[in-house]
Amino acid sequence: METEESFPFYKTAFVLVVLAIIWFFRETIIYNSYKKYFAWISNKITENVKEGLKDEKTRLFQVLHDYKDQQEKNLTILEVGSGAAPNLSFYPANTKVVCLEPNQHNDSYANENIKKEGNSISVDFVHGYAEALPFENETFDIVVCTLVLCSVEDMKKCLQEIKRVLRQGGKYVFLEHVGYENKKSWAWTLQCVMNPLHRVLFDGCETHRDTETYIMAAGFSDFSVNRFTHKPFPSWIRPCISGFATK
Ligand SMILES: C[S@@+](CC[C@H](N)C(=O)[O-])C[C@H]1O[C@@H](n2cnc3c(N)ncnc32)[C@H](O)[C@@H]1O
Repeated sequence: METEESFPFYKTAFVLVVLAIIWFFRETIIYNSYKKYFAWISNKITENVKEGLKDEKTRLFQVLHDYKDQQEKNLTILEVGSGAAPNLSFYPANTKVVCLEPNQHNDSYANENIKKEGNSISVDFVHGYAEALPFENETFDIVVCTLVLCSVEDMKKCLQEIKRVLRQGGKYVFLEHVGYENKKSWAWTLQCVMNPLHRVLFDGCETHRDTETYIMAAGFSDFSVNRFTHKPFPSWIRPCISGFATK
């Protein structure tokens, strides 16, 4: 009789202790698993996205080659939110690149991709956030940021930081998916409807940001933008902008 009564007690106590441990570490467990999942999923789609955007990126990154010729020196590039590092193959030879990325689970994917590229680029990895770039003022010739401003917490601060670490005359090169221009269209409404789910599935990525306006307001001296529709993306993240701004 005593054993029958004490058994549920110990069992219940054990379950409660396990639950308490999970509860105590809940943020670390959930946060880490989520970040791991996102690094895995973005690496899975990176190759397709890279292939789909190949022509656009080849055209966009020509600005790096032109800038290198103009400066007559090898470039120092900061890539913000580098993820699985899909842009390196577009950079000029002998470039020195610093890849800044907050999610450490991307490191192994990025390293694999760099090995595959096997070109003459030197790459350093730094963990950090675009809102607080851990670099001195005027450190880089170029800052590249692709498909990142949709996910950052404070876009204005990120742009200030990008401008701060660029040398005078340096270029900020961007490619982002953005909100549809017509805020009365069904397409824009769909972006708004899909936004909460998209945010959860893709690490805070927002579907309908007005990124162009923020870049224009960031105080760069020169600004060139190309608006295009990237058909392989689902319709709620199809409108994109790419271009560069000069400090
Ligand atoms: C959709 S992925 C794009 C990765 C890569 N730039 C590309 O073009 O494939 C977005 C990346 O931005 C990073 N990210 C999110 N918030 C960030 C922040 N505040 N500062 C820097 N990177 C951030 C994410 O960790 C992720 O690697």
